[in-house]
Amino acid sequence: MAEAVTLYEMGPRDGLQNEARLIATADKIRLVDLLSGCGFSHIEVTSFVSPKWVPQMADAAEVMAGITRKPGVTYAALTPNLQGFERAVAAGADEVAVFASASEGFSQRNINCSIAESLERFRPVLDLARTAAVPVRGYVSCVTDCPYDGPVAPEAVAEVAEALAKMGCSQISLGDTLGSATPDRIGAMLEAVLDRISASRLAGHYHDTRGFALQNITASLDRGLRVFDSAVGGLGGCPYAPGAKGNVATEAVAALLDDMGFDTGLDPVRLARAAAFAHSLRRPA
Ligand code: HMG
Ligand code: MG
Repeated sequence: MAEAVTLYEMGPRDGLQNEARLIATADKIRLVDLLSGCGFSHIEVTSFVSPKWVPQMADAAEVMAGITRKPGVTYAALTPNLQGFERAVAAGADEVAVFASASEGFSQRNINCSIAESLERFRPVLDLARTAAVPVRGYVSCVTDCPYDGPVAPEAVAEVAEALAKMGCSQISLGDTLGSATPDRIGAMLEAVLDRISASRLAGHYHDTRGFALQNITASLDRGLRVFDSAVGGLGGCPYAPGAKGNVATEAVAALLDDMGFDTGLDPVRLARAAAFAHSLRRPA
């Protein structure tokens, strides 16, 4: 039997958060519903962040309320603090994610605090989530490069990843936020993280600015990772990482994994339909 690889779909959240034009709530719901039919086990639907910081995600609760939930699919949301966690749980998120950075510059620009402050801010979220039996994923951004501070040391990534794991994050997603990493640098970063956390708890989250994302996935597969974040149609970017392009396209990763003999459980025809709809949302403002 083919070995399974999980693709964690980012399109509705990481994909749409960077769109300049405000996308209608109904279109966001339609995208999630199309994705629900593709065979994903995990879809990141939205973010419960400050609407002043990311206006595109201001309708997070309406999107969560409007989607048609498919049994067996985990519908997840980003939560930067307790307020976000409470909003996400009230809206019915099955899983939440806290997000830290391996670089100080990005931490300050993205969530308005230092790395250490962010970890302290996440602790009560993890405590409450444990009581509520809500799984928490942890992101580490800027795992090789930061748009403000430049190159990031693998050890710095390992430290933040370990702190999130020790706090109780079930899975740590390692983000090449800028999409500038090469396979060698991803390899060096992973070696440092793998000294502290097993591959079964890690995910690769690669943006595709320089076109290396698929090779970075291959480098990560070689080191035992079996979960990758991707966005249908290659949607995305980050409002606080100027110039960063979309997440690696789900349909491209699914095709690569299929060629390599892995099983993603995804339906390529339905994926293509969802990708076409995702592209249609990218009209200029
Ligand atoms: P702050 O301004 O320091 O927060 O922002 P604050 O606690 O001082 O609150 C300011 C105002 O925001 C208050 O409202 C709060 O109530 C409100 P006011 O009293 O002024 O009317 N507020 C909230 N409202 C709704 N939901 C909340 C919330 N929290 C505060 N959860 C904060 C700090 C973290 C809130 C802000 O910086 C923020 O929301 N940042 C999010 C930025 C973001 O979403 N970035 C993109 C996602 S990260 C990413 O894309 C990377 C990733 O994909 C991985 C990778 O690629 O590397 C994950
Ligand atoms: Mg991202």
